[in-house]
Amino acid sequence: MATKFKMGMIRGFLPLCAILLVACETPSTAPPPPFTPVGDVQQLMEMVIDPAADIVWEAVGTIVTFDGTEEIFPRSDEEWSTVRNSAMVLAESGNLLMVGDRAKGEGPWMIMSQALVEAGMVALEAAEAQDPEAIFGVGEQIYNACETCHILYWYTEEDAVIR
Ligand code: HEC
Repeated sequence: MATKFKMGMIRGFLPLCAILLVACETPSTAPPPPFTPVGDVQQLMEMVIDPAADIVWEAVGTIVTFDGTEEIFPRSDEEWSTVRNSAMVLAESGNLLMVGDRAKGEGPWMIMSQALVEAGMVALEAAEAQDPEAIFGVGEQIYNACETCHILYWYTEEDAVIR
């Protein structure tokens, strides 16, 4: 009785499994997108990611001198666009770090690349809202994404800031 019931369930499930298998296999038979990675990780850092991060970090701040205090923030739509564009570069660069040979394994590398995507998205939203405080705040989130990955994959023990 119990066996009969089980057999019935198995027979009922088989066609469903077959359909699921077909559905799952279809995408993997499609050819991969024709990516042509141009820069390695070092080049992406130097030429794409670091310049974009500098624009976001330097967009907002306070300069204190003997003559007084100067608040720095974007003052025109054009200046805000520059910050917005760099935020987009940072967000999409996180995706670039996950593609092909650039990815170093499936573990923390992916988590920190994703953290860069997310920090870039927060910066993008802040720039679109033209919100200087939010840009200042996301600076730390961006910095943490950079530094956590550097500590894990780049710095040697001698130049690691955190021991
Ligand atoms: C997913 C990991 C990861 C993230 C996130 C990351 N980096 Fe890097 N970064 C590396 C690795 C690995 C290197 C060493 C590359 C090499 O020399 O081969 C590096 C190197 C660099 C360098 C040195 C490049 C050179 O000229 O040799 C700079 C500058 C840099 N990163 C800036 C940043 C900034 C700024 C961020 C955040 C906005 C960031 N990185 C986020 C992994 C990461």
